[in-house]
Formats: sequence, C-alpha cells, structure tokens
Amino acid sequence: MTTRAEELRDALVDKIIKGHVRQGLTMRADVERALRTVPRELFTPGVSLEEAYEDTAIVTKRREDGVGISSVSAPYLIAEMLGQASGRHVLEVGSGGYNAALLREIAGPDGSVTTVDIDPDVTDRARACLDAAGYTDVKVVCADAEFGIEPGRTYDMIIITVGAWDIPPAWISQLADGGTLVVPLRTLGMTRSWALQRSGNHLVSRSNLMCGFVPMQGAGASDSWNVALGDGVTLWLTEPQQDIDGGAVTGVFSQERHEARSGVTVPGGRLSANLDLWLATHLPDFGSMIVPQEAIDSGLVVPSWRWGTPAFVDGTTLAYRGKLRQVDEAGTEFEYVAYAHGPGAAGAAERMADQIRAWDEVDRPAPTLCVFPIDTPDADLPEGLVLNKRHSRVVFTWPLSK
Ligand SMILES: C[S@@+](CC[C@H](N)C(=O)[O-])C[C@H]1O[C@@H](n2cnc3c(N)ncnc32)[C@H](O)[C@@H]1O
Repeated sequence: MTTRAEELRDALVDKIIKGHVRQGLTMRADVERALRTVPRELFTPGVSLEEAYEDTAIVTKRREDGVGISSVSAPYLIAEMLGQASGRHVLEVGSGGYNAALLREIAGPDGSVTTVDIDPDVTDRARACLDAAGYTDVKVVCADAEFGIEPGRTYDMIIITVGAWDIPPAWISQLADGGTLVVPLRTLGMTRSWALQRSGNHLVSRSNLMCGFVPMQGAGASDSWNVALGDGVTLWLTEPQQDIDGGAVTGVFSQERHEARSGVTVPGGRLSANLDLWLATHLPDFGSMIVPQEAIDSGLVVPSWRWGTPAFVDGTTLAYRGKLRQVDEAGTEFEYVAYAHGPGAAGAAERMADQIRAWDEVDRPAPTLCVFPIDTPDADLPEGLVLNKRHSRVVFTWPLSK
C-alpha cells in the first residue's frame, strides 16, 4: 500500500519533471529514481509532512540580521543541479543531509559520498538525519571547504551547495582530471550553477542554470555591494574590479523613461539565463537590479524580474531589461524590451536592445566559462571577458558564428 509520504513524494517528482520539460531539460533516470526513493521528511524535522514535500527551500538557520545561512535546498533546484553532472565518488559542500542521500543513491553500491559543512550544528543534524534514513555510510565532515577535506583523495564530482564568488585551488586539486565541479558562482551580479569539467590545471563549463543560494562563510566569504538607485531600488554588484559611481544615477527614475523594443520574442515569456549573461558581458558597468514591490506597484520601475533584472550604468544614465511585452492575444509570444532613464536614455535603451538582437542573431547561445589559476598570464587565457577573482581568473567566451 502506498503511504501518504510516498504519494506526496511522487506528486512532487512529477511536478519537478514538468518544470524540467518547460525549461527544455530532461531528468536523468538515476536522478528520478533517487528523488522517488529518499524520504525528504526525514531531513526536515519540525515541519509537517505536506511542507516537507513543497518544492521550496526550508531555512534551518538564520544570521542575527535574519539572512538565511543554512537550509535544506529546494527539490527542483537540487534536481536540476544533479542533472548537470554525475560521479561515483562525490564531495558535497554544504550539508542539509537530503542532497547527500540523493547523491548516495545515484553513486551506486561502489560509490562514496562525503559531505562537508562549516557549521557543527549543521553537520550534527545532517549526521542524525542521514543515520535515521539509513545512509550511514555517507561521510559527514565539519570543516571550511575552502580547503582540502580528505588529504590525498580526489573525487569524480564536487557539488557546491552554497553561493560562491570564487573557485579556491582546493576545488580543482581535489577533482580527478575529467571530473566535474558543479558550483553556484556569482559573476557580474548574477548567480548561475555552472558544471565545470577539469582539464589539467583549469576548468571548462558544460552547462549553466539560474539559481540562488545562501552565501559562503569562512575564508571564502566575499563582499557584494548594493548601489542605491532611489525609491528602494538597488543595483547588486559582485566584482570589485567594477568601479560604478552609484551617486551619478541616484534618483534617476524621476527622469522620463525611454523604451526600446528589440523585436526578439520568446514563447511563454520564459526568461533566458544566457541572454542575461550575454548582456552582462557585452554592456559596460553591468549589475543586477533588485526592485521592491512598491516601486513596481507605483509604475516607477517595470523590471523583467524584481529579484535580478539586467541593468547597466552609463555616466548618469541607467538602462535595464523591462518586463516582457505580450505580443499576441493568446499570450504565447512575448518580446524583450529595454528601458532607460537619464540624459542618454534613448541611446542606452537602444544599446541594450541592440545587444538583445545581437544575441538572437547568433542563435541565442550559452557562454562557455573557463576558470584558470590567478597567476595565469593573459596570453594563456582564451579570448573573452576576464574577471579576476581572489584565486582564479574566470573567462567568458561566446560562440559567435551562425
Ligand atoms: C543551502 S545549505 C546546503 C543544503 C544541502 N546541500 C541540502 O542537502 O539541502 C548551505 C550550507 O553551506 C554551508 N557553508 C557555508 N560556507 C561553507 C564553507 N566555507 N565550507 C563548508 N560549508 C559551508 C552552510 O553552513 C550551509 O549549511
């Protein structure tokens, strides 16, 4: 007889598979089997059975200012990231317990899973939950994962489940050559889960997905900055090499709004993670605009997504990607538009629309991200936009031919 927990679990997996299809993703059979097997309710004590099977993250620890620092991640996001790579010997950074159990199912009888967390409360909890669910052979370690975990060991896959800004050397040296690092990495105000395959001393991306994660703590913690644009709207910047004068655009929304239509449409109004990366790497002084609901309700700002709309600053002008414009009555096609405020608004909005068209003209590609050690000379880097992190040089390259 099917239990209530099994019913809820199957319904959740069916829903996640539908979400995959909408995004053009295919769930691997081993990921599906793991999701249908691991009892998530054993990793979410203190919440009801129904809540355990909602497709949301469950925050298990907050900082004093209320910011979440530990959670059991949302199932759809875990499923998407597990689909980015697989491995028999796996290191997971960030231990909710649930993902480690899924990884253990996927790794198979000859495989192994080590999960590491910086917080002893989290590792104690993960250990207890994993034992209760029967995953006693998952190794749980309390340490700062900025550094090596099990001396002398390498893994086929390292999966980071915390928001990183850099790739420390230990994440490359602990990866077998040809193995894959899956990591939510912040670049130019945007977080993407990258699957990065090791090739000698560097990594090359195989895929990327939109995602959001609690920030990394310990030696790898990094700052990000919010430039106030007025009325509670901010521009989120993550690269210290960017030198944006926030004061120059403060209050810019009180100036007239210019619109530039791109003529580029998307079915179903589905936002493209790759378009945002294209804009980020082809426009100057780029950041992610965060907009409070009141500024949307008042009509002051009309962003494509309030939690991170691509935007750039040009002197005293600000341009951003606007809410998609419905093209047909049935609501099946939507057009990308750009808005701008400030003295150069007409030109800036057109500049963003031009870049949306340029991305479309080369068949809407995804970028390749390469990660090299920080001491790599320019001459040894591929052609592309270079971001210098603390330990690594990150290069975006784009396929440009039709
Ligand atoms: C989103 S939670 C992990 C979710 C988990 N993988 C799951 O199964 O749902 C992120 C975790 O990363 C941990 N963390 C943050 N910085 C870390 C670091 N430098 N080393 C190891 N763990 C870290 C936090 O303590 C937090 O518990």
